Amino acid sequence: MNNNSPKQFDVIVIGGGPGGYIAAIRAAQLGMNVACIDEWKSAKGGPALGGTCTNVGCIPSKALLQSSEHFDHANHHFADHGIEVKGVRMDVAKMVGRKDTVVKQNNDGILYLLKKNKISFFHGRGSFVKAVPSTLRQAQDRPGSGQAHGGYEIKVAGVAKETLVGKQIIVATGSNARALPGTPFDEELILSNDGALRLGAVPKKLGLIGAGVIGLEIGSVWRRLGADVTILEGLPTFLGVVDEQIAKEAHKAFVKQGLKIELGVTVGAIKSPSTLRQAQDRSGSGRAKGVNVAWTNSRGEAQTLEVDKLIVSIGRVPNTIGLNAEAVGLKLDERGAIIVDDECRASLAGVWAVGDVVRGPMLAHKAEEEGIAVAERIAGQQGHVNFNTIPWVIYTSPEIAWVGQTEQQLKATGRAYKAGTFPFLANGRARALGDTTGMVKMLADALTDEILGVHIVGPMASELIAECVVAMAFRASSEDIARICHAHPSLSEATKEAALAVDKRTLNF
Ligand code: FAD
Ligand code: NAI
Repeated sequence: MNNNSPKQFDVIVIGGGPGGYIAAIRAAQLGMNVACIDEWKSAKGGPALGGTCTNVGCIPSKALLQSSEHFDHANHHFADHGIEVKGVRMDVAKMVGRKDTVVKQNNDGILYLLKKNKISFFHGRGSFVKAVPSTLRQAQDRPGSGQAHGGYEIKVAGVAKETLVGKQIIVATGSNARALPGTPFDEELILSNDGALRLGAVPKKLGLIGAGVIGLEIGSVWRRLGADVTILEGLPTFLGVVDEQIAKEAHKAFVKQGLKIELGVTVGAIKSPSTLRQAQDRSGSGRAKGVNVAWTNSRGEAQTLEVDKLIVSIGRVPNTIGLNAEAVGLKLDERGAIIVDDECRASLAGVWAVGDVVRGPMLAHKAEEEGIAVAERIAGQQGHVNFNTIPWVIYTSPEIAWVGQTEQQLKATGRAYKAGTFPFLANGRARALGDTTGMVKMLADALTDEILGVHIVGPMASELIAECVVAMAFRASSEDIARICHAHPSLSEATKEAALAVDKRTLNF
């Protein structure tokens, strides 16, 4: 190879989010020569690995949820414990600064992991140039890599400018926030998750479109800090993907916290920042002053919502911008997602895709599992993702977590099931914590007793669900959980009691 020849790799991963960087690490662990390309830039222009999850998703949202929960506890719950605090105030800049530090620790941690695993990192945008004829390939075919092909030439444009050749390509380019038609994000007044996580002050009035996962998590953050929060949701049902009984309980708690949630609405014209900028007097602060949303309620009555900031959280779209997929004929579906089979093989030999850019739930742990499985398949192993046991968590207060099927799904498919519930009100640890909202609900097959789904709303549901995922992965019955010793006093006893309740023999309720 002369110095001008493209660098050759067994595997090139495009995207350094949870799907991409984890795939790169697993491939390197399996002895492959791996490159990872990611274009995300930190505020200083350096690499900011970790994708949406680390930069503007999972990690920063949980940091702000934690800070705002402390604030809420200091204001509303410390007194119950005999702790007197006066003059509690939130320094938003400090809270956001802490969140940025947490993000940076994660960015740096991932960069370190790539180095440790001898993965070549390229900071820039990766795009397909062409397929390499198989006679030119340098690397040997690996078992499990599909039909013979010569790999692909990938251009890196950005801080790094290179052309690379990869025998196998893993695309993990993630997703972007979906905007309302005709209402682009300006991240000043009309915010995606990005702007919503770096507000400099608590808005007096905050509007959100979409009462999904982001709407509820981010709405909770700013509500706890004192914003008057209104969420406009298009569907008539609150959290339709969640078990109905659990969603009902959560809705009650959110309304009690002061979140105004309007269901079954139609959102109409939104006065966009650019319209406002033109129309308003820009002397003074020089900034547009607010957003006006016209909407119709579930009874068909016309309404308007005037807010200081509007967060649009109506789902996300797969991101293939700049990938130049057409250069090699990589097939996308009508949503722009890369078409893959159950094993994440794309339409071209030697090209794989994982995470938000393909079908399935847009979750960091789903992306990671797919990344691991693909690396293992490339190495000739039997990587596998069990899509039936992917947990979901909504990190509100109370937290909502579930795995498997909901009661309404079981009814719809005509599956005979038994249900057991146990309220945290009857759990000693929850009482000691002072947090007794919610319940654990277990659904099991009527005949075999195999656990079909577990649904939790309440304290630490995010952690409690792990036991249920393990149980379902091992195809446990509710009787198995009911007979396992759980520490006392612990919230996990509510899971055991829910299992006992499936057989109508709960002990503490
Ligand atoms: P991403 O994380 O989006 O990473 C893709 C990376 O590829 C990015 O760094 C991008 O810059 C880079 N890239 C794209 N195109 C190119 C290119 N051509 N060249 C080079 N680089 C490129 N999920 C959870 O499981 N738990 C949570 O608590 C959670 N909270 C969330 C909160 C918010 C506010 C949001 C928005 C999302 C949240 N998610 C959560 C979802 C989670 O962030 C995504 O499912 C996850 O990040 C998907 O991982 P990924 O690797 O597929 O893509
Ligand atoms: P979402 O799909 O969770 O919720 C979007 C909501 O907007 C839905 O309820 C939908 O009915 C509503 N909607 C859509 N169009 C609308 C319109 N025109 N008017 C009014 N309502 C409308 O999407 P969200 O909240 O944007 O989050 C995107 C994804 O990010 C999630 O689905 C999830 O995969 C991921 N995420 C995961 C988190 C977690 O795991 N804790 C946290 C945040 C995001």
